[in-house]
This record gives sequence, structure tokens and C-alpha cells, in this order.
Amino acid sequence: MRRRFAIAFFAAAALAAAAPLVSGPSSRVAWTLETVKLARSGDAAKGKKLHEDCAQCHGEAGNVDIPDVPDLGGQDSLYIYKQLSDYKAESRASSIMNEAVKTLSDRDMADLAAFYAAQKPPRSAGKPAPPNNAAVKLATVGDGVRLIPACDACHGDRGAGNPSFYGMPGLKDQKSQDLTVQLMAFRSGERANDVYRVMRDLCKRLTDSEIGALASYYSGALPEEPPTISATKPPQKK
Ligand code: HEC
Ligand code: HEC
Repeated sequence: MRRRFAIAFFAAAALAAAAPLVSGPSSRVAWTLETVKLARSGDAAKGKKLHEDCAQCHGEAGNVDIPDVPDLGGQDSLYIYKQLSDYKAESRASSIMNEAVKTLSDRDMADLAAFYAAQKPPRSAGKPAPPNNAAVKLATVGDGVRLIPACDACHGDRGAGNPSFYGMPGLKDQKSQDLTVQLMAFRSGERANDVYRVMRDLCKRLTDSEIGALASYYSGALPEEPPTISATKPPQKK
């Protein structure tokens, strides 16, 4: 009798825990062996050709000096593949990118990912920022009281990337404004393609000034005024 009650109780608890997922998964990409193999077997030469349609915004080799356009050079191929797939499925919202990937096949996305992964990473933004204690602590130790794990535990030492963790982006030398925009978009839920809500949940616990300090820490640039732009705003024409 008691056992039956316990089973019923746990079944109800499991259902309650799963309830937020009823609205659908945050990404359609699942890291099956097949998907990992595809995403890692892209043809960079074919990707280079496909990139001609993207170069106007992302630059000739994937990096560009526009503050809210992310740098792609040297980024992990699985991460790039997943983002392109998420834009196509519209599980990551960006009017520009949802349109840009419309006609790409899974194979095209793997080829583009191989091309970007093979390019040079972005260069650090000039003068290094003085170390900010709050950012260094969050990056390397986290905050046990607020249940924030160390960023580098997932993103690699100083955000240099972590290829053994499927789909993990490198953060190092990414532009400060893009990093800020992405963290704010996770916090507001505007960006919701992170599997298991890892980024959304931990960003909810970060203050504006911590987000600014972390963006500055990883970009290697001095902190900026918090941007007033939206994550989906088109890049400024130069
Ligand atoms: C009109 C400008 C424009 C064009 C054309 C464009 N992009 Fe983008 N791209 C952006 C912007 C802006 C973002 C950031 C959007 C966001 O915040 O989700 C972005 C984001 C991305 C990301 C996510 C990077 C990350 O770090 O999360 C990838 C990958 C990407 N673009 C690849 C491509 C590819 C491949 C093409 C061509 C098929 C392309 N883009 C065409 C402007 C553009
Ligand atoms: C449990 C692992 C984990 C931890 C801890 C973690 N992240 Fe992430 N983060 C991820 C994953 C996975 C993604 C990719 C989500 C996706 O698929 O779009 C990501 C994405 C990001 C992005 C978007 C990158 C881009 O190019 O658009 C930023 C910025 C980021 N994380 C910053 C941080 C910061 C800052 C911290 C610490 C406060 C942190 N992360 C802690 C797993 C983690």
C-alpha cells in the first residue's frame, strides 16, 4: 500500500517536473552519434563557397568588426552546426538568420561549420581589461550560494572552448557587445535554444553589472555601457 502511494507520488512529481517541456524541446538537435559524425565531417571547401552568401555580414573569413554580429572563425563546428539548425527550425529567433539559412540542407550546415572552424579565431580587442574580481570568480569558481556553476567548467579555460562537450561555444575574444546581448537574451528567454535551459537558468541569477563584467572578461575589452539594442536588431550598415 505504502509502496503504491510512493510510486504514484513520484510519478506525479516527475510529470510536474516535466511540465515546462510540454511546450516542446528548446532545440531539435540531439547529439546522436549520427549527428555528431555529420557535424564533424563537413567539407570546408564546399563551406567556403556557401559562405559567399554570408560574407556581407560575417566578413570574408567569418570575423567582422560589427559589434552585434558574432565572430565565427575558429568556433567549434558542432556549436555552429547546432545554431544553423536551430535558426532553420526557428528554435533560435533572429529574423535575419532565420531567413539566411532557409534553403540550407543539413550537409550544407556541416560544410559551413567546417569552414568556420578552420578559420582564424577573432583577435583580442586591443588593450586588455583590468581583471574584474566578480567576473573572475564567476568564471573560475562560480557562486555556490546562487547555484551558478563556474563558466569555465563548461566553456573551457578562460572560455577557450571545450570540444569534448558537444556543442560548446568558445567565448574567448568574442565581441563584448555580442556576449552581453546573448546573455541578456538568455536571461529574458528571448534566446531559448539552450538544451536543459542551462544558460537561461543561470543568466536569471546574474545582475546587469555581472553580465557586463563577464562580457568584458571574455572579450578582453574594457567594459562598455550596457547596450540598449535588442538581440534581433539587424547589424548597422557601415
Ligand atoms: C544580414 C546580415 C547577416 C547575414 C547575411 C548572415 N548573418 Fe549570420 N548572423 C547575423 C547576426 C546579426 C547574427 C546574430 C543573431 C542573433 O543574435 O541570434 C548572426 C548569427 C549567426 C550565427 C550564430 C553565431 C553564434 O555565435 O551563436 C551563425 C552560425 C551564423 N550567423 C552563420 C551565418 C551563415 C552560415 C550565413 C549565410 C548562410 C549567415 N550567417 C548570414 C547576421 C547575418
Ligand atoms: C553547464 C554548462 C555551462 C555553464 C556552467 C555555462 N555555460 Fe554558457 N553555454 C553552455 C552551452 C551548452 C551553450 C550553447 C547553447 C546553445 O546550444 O545555443 C552556452 C552558450 C553561451 C553563450 C552564447 C555564445 C554565443 O556564441 O552566442 C554565452 C555568451 C555563454 N554561454 C556564457 C556563459 C557564462 C558567462 C557563463 C558563466 C556565468 C556560462 N556561460 C556558464 C553551457 C554552459
